Amino acid sequence: MNHKGTQIIETKRLILRKFKVSDAQQMFDNWANDSEVTKYLTWPSHGNIEVTKELLSDWVQNYQNNSYYNWCIEFKETAQAIGSIGAVKVLEYINSVSIGYCISKEYWSKGIMTEALGAIIKFFFDEVDVNRISATHDTNNPASGRVMAKCGMKYEGTFVQAACNQQGICDIAVYGLVKRDYTGF
Ligand SMILES: CC(C)(COP(=O)(O)OP(=O)(O)OC[C@H]1O[C@@H](n2cnc3c(N)ncnc32)[C@H](O)[C@@H]1OP(=O)(O)O)[C@@H](O)C(=O)NCCC(=O)NCCS
Repeated sequence: MNHKGTQIIETKRLILRKFKVSDAQQMFDNWANDSEVTKYLTWPSHGNIEVTKELLSDWVQNYQNNSYYNWCIEFKETAQAIGSIGAVKVLEYINSVSIGYCISKEYWSKGIMTEALGAIIKFFFDEVDVNRISATHDTNNPASGRVMAKCGMKYEGTFVQAACNQQGICDIAVYGLVKRDYTGF
């Protein structure tokens, strides 16, 4: 892979950029403290803005590593930080990244995560020379799978009781896309 770190990526409605500690209030208010957003995620809603601030401090430190990919999704029209998307795993030995994402409930079902994921996929294939991009979702959270499918990722199967989130142990649907099959957006 040809690591480039968390570069700024602009789409029609979004700016994908590095997080700043000063995003804490919007991150806390818009998604990190919402238990509906974190329902199928591995982490619990924050409960307290100090948790958000500490996490952001860690993330900002991590940007020193150019194989760390974690974008803040900023909605241009409102200039609000509304969510995050990034590589939750980077597997060097197979040139592969695994993607995770979430956004504020207020912005659901407007095609925003599809726009963000499409841009990230293009970045990883074209700029970082990744060969395989994967993502998983709890089978009880099909909206996440729709985003993957709309971005051209292929359903590869379901792993039974193979992960754990705020709902407990769950089945996960696995999606993947390899460079060979990538036709662009
Ligand atoms: C999952 C999530 C990222 C989707 O983001 P989004 O910006 O709303 O996604 P989009 O609008 O691009 O697409 C969502 C698709 O799911 C569909 N959808 C919404 N609710 C659904 C449901 N209950 N069942 C099936 N599909 C559903 C939408 O209709 C849309 O598909 P369409 O364009 O074919 O109509 C967002 O809901 C979220 O942040 N959820 C909480 C965190 C999370 O679950 N993250 C993923 C963990 S794997």
